[in-house]
Amino acid sequence: MSKIFACFKSIGAYIPKRVLSNEDLEKMVETTDEWILQRTGIKERRLASEDELTSDIGLKAAKLAIERADIKTDEIDAVICATLTPDFLCMPATACIIASKLGIKNVLAFDVSAACSGFVYILYLAKSLIESGRHKNILIIGAEKLSSVVDYTDRSTCILFGDGGGAAIISQTKNKNEAVMDIQISADGDYAHLLVAPRSRIMYPKDDRTLEYLQMAGNEVFKVAVKTLTNDVMEILRKNGVSSSKIDHFIPHQANLRIIEAVREKLDFPREKTVLTVQKYGNTSAASIPMAMNDAYEEGRIRHSDLILLDTFGGGFTWGSALLYFGGK
Ligand code: COA
Repeated sequence: MSKIFACFKSIGAYIPKRVLSNEDLEKMVETTDEWILQRTGIKERRLASEDELTSDIGLKAAKLAIERADIKTDEIDAVICATLTPDFLCMPATACIIASKLGIKNVLAFDVSAACSGFVYILYLAKSLIESGRHKNILIIGAEKLSSVVDYTDRSTCILFGDGGGAAIISQTKNKNEAVMDIQISADGDYAHLLVAPRSRIMYPKDDRTLEYLQMAGNEVFKVAVKTLTNDVMEILRKNGVSSSKIDHFIPHQANLRIIEAVREKLDFPREKTVLTVQKYGNTSAASIPMAMNDAYEEGRIRHSDLILLDTFGGGFTWGSALLYFGGK
């Protein structure tokens, strides 16, 4: 029997309408458009409306991914959502809510908490489930309403983050030229304290407000991110005998243009092969990679069998990279 591979069959995203520009932030905290652009490359980010939840954001992205995969919802046999801003802190999982809104019943549905690395983590899980032969079509979603955990009086974090969602259908294929080739994911909890959001009321006393919102030691995160992302990419390319010149699209996590540029230059990727959306969406955590991928897809840049490299880093710390041939049309 020939081997079953996992195929990245479609991509979709939802971009909330409301724009929060650097000029808007100048009126909210002591900052300037110039400082933000220079240090992060971000010009604006999108914010969900008050009544829009992470599941609503994920649902819209999922609908597009399902439509583009040309499958029916009753063919989906697993729903996995990566988010650090679930509708409910403990339960039910956002994946269950999205599945219900799509009318998908009696299949496994759960959330994964891996911060900005969430999408690559759930792609890894989907790949494993598909290759096991037990699943045929898996809906994976990265969705965030980060505006719900950002402190808009803290200039060191509120300039960075935005809301949005992305989704994909991962299906079975026997064709190696449309398969997810390899994924490596990892974590180091020794760095957990450098990026935290928000506190658990069980772990911290009620009168301690220090972790009410997302908190980050930006500079320390920055240094580890550049080093880890570079090593991670070099490792996956070396392991698979792929030279960086063979990559059609490099889609890194969109946290900071300086981080992306540092990794890109170390690996000698041309700028035109690097997908950049950080300038218009900011950092949307688990949604950042699928939103960027969707942008490139809608611009007609990504075609069937193109070789794509994903690379991500986030709270935990968690990180990961993926090499895949795009399986969509
Ligand atoms: N506007 C103006 N000044 C600001 C500012 C803002 N929005 N935010 C911070 N500053 C100030 C600081 O107060 C500090 O002032 P000081 O020197 O008087 O103390 C100065 O700018 C430098 O701060 P620093 O934190 O060292 O800046 P930086 O160059 O590291 O840039 C980040 C800050 C957050 C943009 C950057 O560290 C970063 O992007 N980190 C990684 C973020 C990330 O990737 N996080 C998610 C991982 S998934």
